[in-house]
Amino acid sequence: MAQIIDGRALAAKFRGEIAAKVQSFTRRAGFPPGLAVVLVGEDPASQIYVRSKEKACREVGFYSKVHCLPQETTQSELLELVESLNTDPRIHGILVQLPVPDQIDSKAVINSIDPAKDVDGFHPVNMGRLVTGQPGLVPCTPRGIMELLKSTGIEIAGKNALVIGRSNIVGKPVAALLLAANATVTVAHSKTVGLPALARSADILVVAVGRKELVKGDWIKPGAVVIDVGMNRVEGKLYGDVAFQEAAQKAAFITPVPGGVGPMTIAMLLANTLDAAEAIIRG
Ligand code: GUN
Repeated sequence: MAQIIDGRALAAKFRGEIAAKVQSFTRRAGFPPGLAVVLVGEDPASQIYVRSKEKACREVGFYSKVHCLPQETTQSELLELVESLNTDPRIHGILVQLPVPDQIDSKAVINSIDPAKDVDGFHPVNMGRLVTGQPGLVPCTPRGIMELLKSTGIEIAGKNALVIGRSNIVGKPVAALLLAANATVTVAHSKTVGLPALARSADILVVAVGRKELVKGDWIKPGAVVIDVGMNRVEGKLYGDVAFQEAAQKAAFITPVPGGVGPMTIAMLLANTLDAAEAIIRG
């Protein structure tokens, strides 16, 4: 039976450490780190995420501002808001919650954020730094996944890592981080042939596809570490991308849903905002 990786406990530890660093930052700078979160429209899942991000910000002592814009907001209205946040001295981190409504091009929005304030790490400058091994802001969920892996004490170098999912938010950046940690990385996606067999050779399996219980117990290599990024809400209940009960019979370590990756994503958003604020005041 696998050991469960407790993302809630690990996130609480990070939040405690961040809160102490925020006190020191605020004493030195004379103002707290500030995060602006922008939500366009009324997607219920996004509303929940944004609310928990705001609560976490307040708890560690950040200045936090949520901008809720109507569903029919135009791209130029949103770009104007981002531009004002880019130059707002109280704001060190800007996060535009995705997805945005269809009339808005999310790439144009991401590209408009000052890379120094891009706490999502989605700007091409930060993505470029990530793949070239230069310091920059790293996307929150991938950064949290690396911390979850680190907490197990397993060695990453030389391991076979399979990432299922190739999104800009999770799949691509976590593959880059695993590669930087010297894993042998495979990225699988909807066109991949022979996925179960690939999974069976993975020592580290990261699943971020958004399909309820896609990964079955008999896909898991005995002793593997399984990180489930899935958040599939079906009839009010939350399911991962991995059939947890079956997979836990085979894996050495596994993250639960909820209580695994999700809490770490928010903790890493706080870490990124603090890092951005420190870098901005250093100049
Ligand atoms: N939507 C789902 N995950 C994320 C995230 O990490 N950041 C933003 N901005 N939107 C998201």
